[in-house]
Amino acid sequence: MSTRRFPQGFLWGAATSAHQIEGAWNTDGKGESIWDHFAHSPYRVMNDDTGDVACDHYRRMSDDVALMKELGLQTYRFSISWPRILPQGRGAINEKGLDFYDRLVDSLLAADIIPNATLYHWDYPQALQEAGGWPNRDSVDWFVDYARVVFDRLGDRVPLWATHNEPWVTAFVGHALGLHAPGICDYSQAYQTVHHQLLSHGRTVQLFRQGSYQGEIGIVLNLGHYEPATESQADLAACQRAYEENVALFMDPLIKGHYPEMLLDWIGPHRPHVREEDAAVISQPIDFVGVNYYTSHQVSWSLSHGLLKANSAPVSAPGWGHTKMDWGINPPGLTAVLLNIKENYGNPKMYVTENGCALKDTPDERGFVADWGRVGFFRAHLMAAHDAIQAGANLHGYYAWSLMDNFEWAMGYEPRFGIVRVDFETGRRDPKQSALWYREVITRNGVEE
Ligand code: FCB
Repeated sequence: MSTRRFPQGFLWGAATSAHQIEGAWNTDGKGESIWDHFAHSPYRVMNDDTGDVACDHYRRMSDDVALMKELGLQTYRFSISWPRILPQGRGAINEKGLDFYDRLVDSLLAADIIPNATLYHWDYPQALQEAGGWPNRDSVDWFVDYARVVFDRLGDRVPLWATHNEPWVTAFVGHALGLHAPGICDYSQAYQTVHHQLLSHGRTVQLFRQGSYQGEIGIVLNLGHYEPATESQADLAACQRAYEENVALFMDPLIKGHYPEMLLDWIGPHRPHVREEDAAVISQPIDFVGVNYYTSHQVSWSLSHGLLKANSAPVSAPGWGHTKMDWGINPPGLTAVLLNIKENYGNPKMYVTENGCALKDTPDERGFVADWGRVGFFRAHLMAAHDAIQAGANLHGYYAWSLMDNFEWAMGYEPRFGIVRVDFETGRRDPKQSALWYREVITRNGVEE
């Protein structure tokens, strides 16, 4: 067996997000988020699950940091709950909410774990939703004001910042498909949401630079790999549209300073309202692009598939099946995504900010899950990331999704993505086989082939 070694200084971590793990949805002055609101309405989430308690991380934070230390993590990616800090989304600050993240950051630093904080991972304040939400241009100012409060408190100690997590999901799954909070089905609002999130990103990067903070700031995107089902003109064009909506719609304005025109022509009346000065703000230089990679898509033209007329079917590499989410497992897709950024977007610094899988986990009588399937998934994707590095991709770190089983949005608690098992009845944590395996990967800074 030979070991594929990663470059010196490569960062190894795991990721979570606030709403998925914290619970304490109305504790210590926290305001309601759109996910609290959505999950409290019947039939929106599988089994009517809610994030009310989740992993109870808000109360168990110190133990969770101790667990991260035990697992050898070098860095931890988490998100900050906007309505925990600003219960109404703007105005009065909830000091207890800020104190929580203050303690989290200090505990991580004391454990020698680098904090990587995301400002927005989908738990938008309900009060601002009622004032128009992301489709309202004022949301840009609201977000920047929130970011200022967070930077003022944590900017001296957090070296890695992301503005948004997967703005594609917020826009399209939340505002066009209506499967996520706020549950809106309207492409115009979805495209407007894309624009306002990107603008709020750019304004926040400007604010961060003005504050002369020492850290890096970037954005996290869910980037899939897209291939046409056949070489027919119809399939090629459908594939191009699907790619542009998922990748170019974000990467082009961020890096090249303009939206992909072909896509904007296609969506016609749903084109977002954009002001001339916006492009320069959105394309502020960033320090890194965070890549969340889960799956690849084979795209064919289909009249019955929504605005894009593009049917995206999951791709699995030979010998690999699907996860519990029905996502195809395709490790080479990760290499392709990283190399696409290298070749078409100037090879910015990148981190894989999420990668993982939900599989059927069966604990033994001691609560231990021998999840060798997940080990195989991680090993194959790490080799794919390594292939990309060897081909020149500027990749500097990797975060497993997720540190622990958690509230998987509209799918509730059924899919389990964690490297640590959570018993949702008792809150008990048990590292799975994949966590033990990952600790060794970190120790040797490499993966055995
Ligand atoms: C990503 C999300 C993350 C988690 C994983 C499975 O799209 O960023 O919160 O739900 O998928």
